[in-house]
Amino acid sequence: MNSDIQINKPTPILATEKLVLFKRATHVKDTIKALEAGDFVLITEFYNNGMTLLKELQTHLKNKLPNKSFKEQREYRAAYHKLSNLILLEITAQKVAVKKSPEIGWLEKFYPDNDHFMLTFPQVQGLNSAWQWYQNGIVVPVLRNKIHPYYGTYFPTRFDHLILFDNWLKRYTGPKKSAIDVGIGSGVLSFQMIKHGFQKVFGTDTNPNAIFGLQEFMGDTKLSRKIELEHGHFFGKYEKEAELIVFNPPWLPESYNLENVDEAIYYNKNLFPKFFAEANNRLATDGKLVILFSNLAQIANLTKEHPIEKELAKGVRFTLEKCFKKTVKGASEKTKRNQHWRGTEEVELWVLIRK
Ligand SMILES: C[S@@+](CC[C@H](N)C(=O)[O-])C[C@H]1O[C@@H](n2cnc3c(N)ncnc32)[C@H](O)[C@@H]1O
Repeated sequence: MNSDIQINKPTPILATEKLVLFKRATHVKDTIKALEAGDFVLITEFYNNGMTLLKELQTHLKNKLPNKSFKEQREYRAAYHKLSNLILLEITAQKVAVKKSPEIGWLEKFYPDNDHFMLTFPQVQGLNSAWQWYQNGIVVPVLRNKIHPYYGTYFPTRFDHLILFDNWLKRYTGPKKSAIDVGIGSGVLSFQMIKHGFQKVFGTDTNPNAIFGLQEFMGDTKLSRKIELEHGHFFGKYEKEAELIVFNPPWLPESYNLENVDEAIYYNKNLFPKFFAEANNRLATDGKLVILFSNLAQIANLTKEHPIEKELAKGVRFTLEKCFKKTVKGASEKTKRNQHWRGTEEVELWVLIRK
């Protein structure tokens, strides 16, 4: 059981030294100057006042910073991240304290005993959208039921790689006793394997919210007897061999400045070597190691290295059975304008077997 998991949630802000108040009539330019000087700004009256201030901040930064290449976009986001997180909202009795605020159920779940504190505006926005996803669920084309991702858990927003995996599972004729899903996230790959007849899936994740959320979602349904969860690295304490190991790892190398350390998106240089070393001990003799990947990092010029090709080139542990590729459906015209590099994006499904 994983009942003692500590989930990640925004830390309540209790008091700050200097607080600039922002109302509808406040001069926006002065407020942005205050933010740039490092002052905290408290949104008062209406939730929408905060939205207005954020929009103005975006316009201000867009005029100030170039925002075209992948790197520039990252820098712009870092500047926005820094300043927008100085904008605060009060939370009173598990509700956002300004008028016309969204209802956010996480506030009850996460802070049942904390009646008064502050959160940053982006944190509240994050909680709000995560609540919508969680409550309404997300339709995933390859699954019968919606997924309900828990707060702070990765979930797919594009599905080409899941379609590749589904097509591969349709043709898979090997044994279906057990599989391992490394980095289970909101559970999509495990649900696909169960749909295709796998009897037992063991899923791990380093993100406690992923494990807690799936535990809550499955409750004591039939699914909970088919999917076993563990909060941990790679294979956790699981020691048996499996006929299928699947991993949809982060697709981008960690940036040199460590502003963003989201383990669902960015990998560090040790992730793949460690994964392959451990996978080598957990894959049954005739088992398949399936890795979902993408050429995103290469076409965005973030790296020339492909971690799976690198492992195969060593020629020690695994050989390639097959690699399937699928072009990602084009971005909408609007987003394409600044993202030409997305043009040739492909997702990849690598099937590796033991040497
Ligand atoms: C790109 S997401 C994929 C999630 C899910 N399998 C899917 O396909 O939607 C990668 C997941 O791996 C997890 N992760 C990253 N490093 C890990 C590690 N060393 N061990 C276990 N899980 C890890 C992340 O927390 C994240 O949930």
